[in-house]
Amino acid sequence: MSTEYIRIEKSQPLSGIAQLAGAKNAVLVIMASLLLTEGKNKLTNVPFSEDIRHMIRLLEMLGAVVEVDKDMGTLVIDTTLISSFRVPVEIMKRMRASILVMGSLLARFGKAEVALPGGCSIGERPIDYHLKAFSKMGATFSTSNEYIHCNADKLRPITHILDYPSVGATENIIMGTALLKGTTRIINASVEPEVLDLIEVLNKMGAHIRVLAPATIEIEGVSSLEPIDHQIMYDRLEAGSLLLAAAITGGELSLPDAPARSMTVFLSLLEEMGHSITLGDNNTGVHIQATQEPRAVSFKTMPYPGFPTDLQAPMMAALCLASGKSVIHETVFENRLVHVRELQKMGAQISIEGQTATIVGVDELYGAAVIASDIRAGAALVLAGLAAHGHTTMTGVHHLKRGYDAIVPKLASLGGRISTQFEE
Ligand code: EPZ
Repeated sequence: MSTEYIRIEKSQPLSGIAQLAGAKNAVLVIMASLLLTEGKNKLTNVPFSEDIRHMIRLLEMLGAVVEVDKDMGTLVIDTTLISSFRVPVEIMKRMRASILVMGSLLARFGKAEVALPGGCSIGERPIDYHLKAFSKMGATFSTSNEYIHCNADKLRPITHILDYPSVGATENIIMGTALLKGTTRIINASVEPEVLDLIEVLNKMGAHIRVLAPATIEIEGVSSLEPIDHQIMYDRLEAGSLLLAAAITGGELSLPDAPARSMTVFLSLLEEMGHSITLGDNNTGVHIQATQEPRAVSFKTMPYPGFPTDLQAPMMAALCLASGKSVIHETVFENRLVHVRELQKMGAQISIEGQTATIVGVDELYGAAVIASDIRAGAALVLAGLAAHGHTTMTGVHHLKRGYDAIVPKLASLGGRISTQFEE
């Protein structure tokens, strides 16, 4: 059996223009929301990373008919014949986002059987916020053999305060109540751009959902939702990773589609490091001219609009070569500093105390054999490899492929010395 790995060599400053893919974390939840319709839906600007393939397979297992056009980046999903409300263990084990169909299935069938998602390398990742909200609406839950059996003959609208602005719980409650007669309010809701994109899609289907300040989402139930055509928003996390690839190699890059409006805190930290950032008209499009003397900066990860936890690892890679001391406090996930030991193998000076990493900038990194432990850790190691002397080999490639659509050829097209290899 051959092992796939990525080989990276110290690269010239990356330069050029890159086309962004659609946002993984938007398309996954939007695909789950299509279960609320009965008919043909069309999604465009779809990224074909591994997680999207898993979600396609999940919808097909529930009875959807899916037409894929990878070249065009489109998906046509016919939900007319959906007949099952059971999410198999093997799918849930592969992709935690499978939990996002729970709300839609409860709304469509009054029932849902989902396998317990279990934790992943970045944390325990329980679903208690999801279950607590649905219980308050009248749903009952029982577990047997790795499955949660959810019954909700008649959900009732509620005003619910989330203990934490969880992305997934907010999305599941919205999808579980869009067809529920009456008014549901979610207080302390997540307002991540991907959640707002879901709300835009549901309102396009005919839902009545409003976002009220502060972080309150109001859902006025409707009797039915119609199939839609929708273009998936561009991926702010891919945009951030590519901008950091240019930053760490001292390059220059344009991302004409970058959703700058939803990247404010991240872009301001790049400027604080000394990089020159120019925004396109209407806050669409970002150009970076990297400084050759990046400065250290400190931040803590937070729910939107704070610094996104999904860019913490790639940002850390860039700070390894910034002069001075950077302090990163990871507040969203309890185990999202696993990439530190891999960066240390490459000569980075990083110490950890609890959820806080302190990085003292070094002049050089050196190639090594490293292992990606999750999607964003993979991106961080690729970035470090582009700036490190000698060559780096990275395994755990399946993590990277789960979250990014063709990032290796994209970096190569910008001058990155990077390729996917197989070892017998
Ligand atoms: C979404 O995960 C994203 N995934 C994650 O992206 C992202 O890191 C995360 O939001 C935060 O922005 C998708 O959208 C598919 P949460 P989600 O519920 O919904 C705890 C990537 O790299 N929690 O906001 O699972 C949880 O353990 C991925 O693309 C509970 O305790 O995130 C975490 O510590 C990784 N109980 C915190 O809340 C619950 O019921 C935030 O989780 C739910 C969550």
